Amino acid sequence: MTHHPIIEEDIRNIAEDLRRYAPQLSGTTLLLTGGAGFLGKYIIYVLDYMNKHIFQKPCKTIVLDNFITGIKELAVDPKYFSIVHHDVSQPYQTDEHLDYIFHAASIASPVFYKKYPLETLDVGTLGTRNMLELAKQKHVKSILFFSSSEVYGDPDDKFVPTPETYHGNVSCIGPRACYDEAKRVGETYAVNYHQIHRVPVKIIRPFNIYGPGMKLDDRRVVPNFVLAALKGEKIPLYGGGQHTRTFCYISDAITGIFQVLLSQYNGEPFNIGSDGQEISMESLANIISEQFGSGIHISHVVGPNDAYEKADPQRRSPDLRKIRTFVGYEPKTDVVTGLKRFIVWAKDQDISQFSVHIK
Ligand SMILES: NC(=O)c1ccc[n+]([C@@H]2O[C@H](COP(=O)([O-])OP(=O)(O)OC[C@H]3O[C@@H](n4cnc5c(N)ncnc54)[C@H](O)[C@@H]3O)[C@@H](O)[C@H]2O)c1
Repeated sequence: MTHHPIIEEDIRNIAEDLRRYAPQLSGTTLLLTGGAGFLGKYIIYVLDYMNKHIFQKPCKTIVLDNFITGIKELAVDPKYFSIVHHDVSQPYQTDEHLDYIFHAASIASPVFYKKYPLETLDVGTLGTRNMLELAKQKHVKSILFFSSSEVYGDPDDKFVPTPETYHGNVSCIGPRACYDEAKRVGETYAVNYHQIHRVPVKIIRPFNIYGPGMKLDDRRVVPNFVLAALKGEKIPLYGGGQHTRTFCYISDAITGIFQVLLSQYNGEPFNIGSDGQEISMESLANIISEQFGSGIHISHVVGPNDAYEKADPQRRSPDLRKIRTFVGYEPKTDVVTGLKRFIVWAKDQDISQFSVHIK
């Protein structure tokens, strides 16, 4: 994954942005769950770059993944990275001292969490509890739980852009509940481990992060639209295409993720994403088709499951005042620039085995 120049440039930029935090990370031991996923791999490659170019003493990272959706293709120095096949819904024990934990394991794409609903519930609830218990035993300096903007469900227009104080509009039995409710319970575990055991846990709520390195058959909207365009097929728009999202380029998000991990704001949730432009899915499809010149059209189709057809949130846009003020986060990449980078990378991938529509 690092071999593509676009990703290499992203990694270098993130690592240089994080140089000022090097004293906190140098020589430490980290544990990362979900390291074979999209965000996890970027975190690994940033740490690898910082080991080689920035830290006085390299850090060690234990990566846990059960590869339910992630791919085993991590090209990193085995001296500093141990890749362990482990389902984090089961407790994990290690003799290693741990300084930091990123708990990113989840089944994040609606097509896949509908395929594995019980596994999705377990990783968000039991998996989160297991990681908080480990954080408590090891007296870590910080643990970061990757929650989701999906904890807000389908927000009332009055709460868009959505602040962390909004309680959400979520069905506990709806088509998305295995993911949304697991993240909500995960957050409840986190704040209670902080209140009862003083575990230094922070929570992030990502809003649609995208970028190179995403699996092109992941089925989330950006890879799916780009895959259709690359194949010369019509871009499939579900549910009329008027629902909106904001899109955050990966390098902005990864910088913010480290900023929150290394902050002092224990027991706190932070929105993370981009507030530059809230766009409809139809606009996103148009922007992508423009990048391919003429000849790419859009078709209105039925979504692959009821998570799209019955429960797709109408709007999603973050209020970023808290993360800006508390940790100095600032997304820099506008959506067209980010999509262009994604497309340059995607054009160099082998897409022959991927299909736009689920067979
Ligand atoms: N990318 C986004 O836009 C976004 C938005 C909201 C929330 N998030 C959250 O951020 C985190 C990372 O997202 P991502 O896009 O990299 O997801 P991803 O699906 O690409 O990666 C998740 C990884 O977790 C692994 N995993 C799943 N269940 C596991 C288990 N029981 N034990 C061990 N590993 C397991 C998968 O194999 C995969 O490698 C997730 O928790 C996700 O819910 C991401």
